[in-house]
Amino acid sequence: MMLRIMDSHCHLQDAAFDDDRPVVWDRACKAGVGAVVPGYTLATSEAAVAWVRAQEGAWALVGLHPHDARDWQPDHRALLTEWLRQPRVVGIGEIGLDYHYQHSPPEVQQRVFWEQLSLARDLNVPVSVHMREAEEDTWRILREVGHTRGVIHSFTGSWAFAQRVLDLGWYLSFSGIVSFKNAQDLRDIVAKVPPDRILVETDAPYLSPVPWRGQRNEPVRVIRVAEIIAAQKSCHTEEVFSFTMSNTFELFSLPGDRN
Ligand code: NI
Repeated sequence: MMLRIMDSHCHLQDAAFDDDRPVVWDRACKAGVGAVVPGYTLATSEAAVAWVRAQEGAWALVGLHPHDARDWQPDHRALLTEWLRQPRVVGIGEIGLDYHYQHSPPEVQQRVFWEQLSLARDLNVPVSVHMREAEEDTWRILREVGHTRGVIHSFTGSWAFAQRVLDLGWYLSFSGIVSFKNAQDLRDIVAKVPPDRILVETDAPYLSPVPWRGQRNEPVRVIRVAEIIAAQKSCHTEEVFSFTMSNTFELFSLPGDRN
């Protein structure tokens, strides 16, 4: 497989792909799209670990999403550590804080985010962080833990928050939201972020870019996200493919010759 671009965050293990996962992945491979596949529950973390094992061009992350933080048990630290020893498992995610839905209480989310982020720091592996309407607490925990290898996935925060995490050495990943009509503020942020800190993603099966908004998303549509980034950067889409792939390989320490 000749990789041209990386979808830095997509959930190919999700049940939404149970009927046609090989077909969806084949479309990605034929277009040169590689994938980082984060877990969000224990079951989907385990499924990601199992699925990437035989897939050239795909790597997995394991972790508990803030929605499911209430399921965290003390022995999950050992479980994540064990999964991180498996082939093609390269980091912890997705983890973080989501105060929009509050499916788990904020104080539980904070504790479980802190646990997983400090585990990543202790093991020196990168993290993929979900942050929605929780900038102050996210920043406080990032600063307290002091881990320098991470990305805020599907970034929709403020420019002030973006600058703080960039100063910490982190990356920002942009999803199909950048194509939405009402997302001009986000496109203005894209224009300001240095190219060597930008990742692109689909967050499939969610967040399909325009003109497929509302449909099931899939990794090949990361190309559309790259086109929007290119427009904001006044550069060729191929350049966005190139710098975002380099950044993804760098952040997740992906091995081998990608060209
Ligand atoms: Ni996600």
